[in-house]
Amino acid sequence: MRFLVRGCCETFRSAVRAWLQPCRERAEKRRALAPEVRRWPSAAEAAVSEAPFGTVKTVPLQHLQTGFAIACNLLLLVAAALIASATALAQAPTFDLGKTATPEELQKWDIAIGPSGKELPPGSGTAKDGADLFAKKCAVCHGKAGEGTQLGPLLVATNGKRSTIMGWPFATIIWDFINRAMPINAEGTLSANEVYGLTAFLLAKNGAIQESDVLDSKAVPKVAMPNFKRFTAPPTDWKPWMPRPLGAK
Ligand code: HEC
Repeated sequence: MRFLVRGCCETFRSAVRAWLQPCRERAEKRRALAPEVRRWPSAAEAAVSEAPFGTVKTVPLQHLQTGFAIACNLLLLVAAALIASATALAQAPTFDLGKTATPEELQKWDIAIGPSGKELPPGSGTAKDGADLFAKKCAVCHGKAGEGTQLGPLLVATNGKRSTIMGWPFATIIWDFINRAMPINAEGTLSANEVYGLTAFLLAKNGAIQESDVLDSKAVPKVAMPNFKRFTAPPTDWKPWMPRPLGAK
């Protein structure tokens, strides 16, 4: 980083130098002039002179030269200030705050589970394992039988009410959602086995698997979700921001 900033400084300095070269040359020339030419113009010299198309106030050459010299000097000052601050930046201390994340740390955040389920961690669980856990950690919001309360939506289809989770096309989404978002206020505290058990419990209660089925990384993606056929896979050349296929079979 320091090396980069220093490199930039150098390029900037030489650019400013090249840019100011004509200024310098003019200043030299002015200095070489005889002292009587360098003096401030007299009132007579600055007087209005006749011009072919009316009266035009002419500015004596010395005025222009002085103005130019002042502008040059101001520019030099600004450039010097810029260079000084850039140099200060190049020499700014590093504060040793933070560190580069290790692959293990990054992995903790990389928890998305796709439909193939290849990201699912090792572990397994049954509906029975999940039932106990559900009563302990989930029923308070979702109701004892998953019928829903004011604190959480219904998770088990009962009395003709549909559960949102059974509308999802892949069971991997249920696993992923419980793993990343539940229980509310203690997200991320469930072990992989617990999430397999809870997923099995909800799928069994909704009739998508048998009570005795064991769910693991191989079994979850294979669960036949009742609403799957109502989803359409995007075309193979689909890219983000392309229109979604409408009514495709
Ligand atoms: C503190 C209350 C609370 C607890 C405890 C809780 N949930 Fe939830 N849960 C919610 C709320 C609120 C939502 C809706 C969140 C949303 O839509 O963003 C929800 C949504 C869900 C969903 C998605 C349902 C849908 O219709 O989208 C699932 C699945 C779920 N919870 C499972 C669980 C499981 C399993 C547990 C126990 C480990 C649990 N929840 C514990 C409040 C809770």
